[in-house]
Amino acid sequence: MSEFNYKSNRLHVENVAINAIQQSIPTPFYVYSATMIENNFLSLQSRLSDLNHLICFAVKANSNQAVLRTLAALGSGADVVSLGELKRALHAGIHAQKIVFSGVGKTAKEIEYAIEQGIFQFNVESVAELHNINAVALKCNKKAHIAIRINPDVAVDTHAKITTGSAENKFGISYQHALDTFVLADSLPGITVQGIHVHIGSQITDVTPFRAAFKRVADLYKQLETLGININVLDLGGGLGICYDPENDKLPNMNEYRQIIEDELSQFNCKYIVEPGRSLTADTGCLVSTVIYDKLGSDRNFLIINAAMNDFARPSLYDAYHRISPVIESNKPRKKYDIVGPVCESGDTFAVARTLPELESGDLVVIRDCGAYGAVMSGTYNTRPLIAEVMVKGDQFAVIRERQSLDDLINLDQIPNWLISST
Ligand code: LLP
Repeated sequence: MSEFNYKSNRLHVENVAINAIQQSIPTPFYVYSATMIENNFLSLQSRLSDLNHLICFAVKANSNQAVLRTLAALGSGADVVSLGELKRALHAGIHAQKIVFSGVGKTAKEIEYAIEQGIFQFNVESVAELHNINAVALKCNKKAHIAIRINPDVAVDTHAKITTGSAENKFGISYQHALDTFVLADSLPGITVQGIHVHIGSQITDVTPFRAAFKRVADLYKQLETLGININVLDLGGGLGICYDPENDKLPNMNEYRQIIEDELSQFNCKYIVEPGRSLTADTGCLVSTVIYDKLGSDRNFLIINAAMNDFARPSLYDAYHRISPVIESNKPRKKYDIVGPVCESGDTFAVARTLPELESGDLVVIRDCGAYGAVMSGTYNTRPLIAEVMVKGDQFAVIRERQSLDDLINLDQIPNWLISST
């Protein structure tokens, strides 16, 4: 159930009116509903309750400490892809034994830190990485527990930039080479082989490709068993989509997803890991922004808002559709708008020809479903400071990341000696 609802014509997050938040926190900012994050987690947990499972939230989707702590309190683990994400997860109180480390380019420094912390598993993506993990583990006098990520070569109907399980993608070890790689891994003294990992893409709304991918995992499991290599962890990745556009998108069928796991994998009596990112947080957040100008033309009407592509990249990067709504509902005549930010690029466009009630300078709008891959992908292009984040719980709200100050942003730069004397 959404916690973003109009009450007396004003959009609320849980019991807090967005325009009330905006009185103390200048726009643009992200705002998240803690209750929705909790509900999304608990609902997935109950779907998997009859499996020995661990939900490892994909920290890349939203790495704010308040979000991670909300999930940690419910028992969530974490899927991390960098030293920074690993430190964030640990700092938020997620136990190392609930952390899996994915990604194609883990460095020796990252591997060493993760081994020293005692993480649950590395998801290994190449033979070169396997050798590196082995070498670092031996140096630390420890054994690294690993799963090997297989690339099942399964096509998924999603944006080309977010498929990961096809042969042309850089991820995982090709299905054809997987067996040999497991045999190699099993022979290395610094490595304990424990799992098979697969992740086929993101924003998947038709769950049928999971069946093909999981069948390959099952085949591999059986082949490994005959070789005496025992697998006790199956990491099924993330990828479940959400409904961004109620007129065109459908939600993934969770009963079917659960059934596919049941049919293809539950016979193995393993620990089952899932790595959801988007499906836990995307619909729990929106971006609040103020109209700077309306610019009415014969061809197009533009609404220029004070959020831009640096604050929220998905529309410019993936042509992603996001609902946009006014914070105050009105009966004003409706107009078609292109909704754009102030950055000097035509790609700084959030929506084209969107019908909204007439809006003017000072009005607030929200871009919906930005709780995943929103703030984490923000930057400072055009010297726009990193955006603020707010969390709501019931009738309370709190800033969970201050907007960066311009001084802080500018002071990140350093002046080389040869310029100091000349200024
Ligand atoms: N596990 C692995 C190994 C991944 O690479 C990813 C996402 C996930 C889990 C989480 O997937 P999710 O459940 O969120 O679909 N920035 C893009 C999405 C990139 C996803 C990358 N990998 C976007 O805004 O659509």
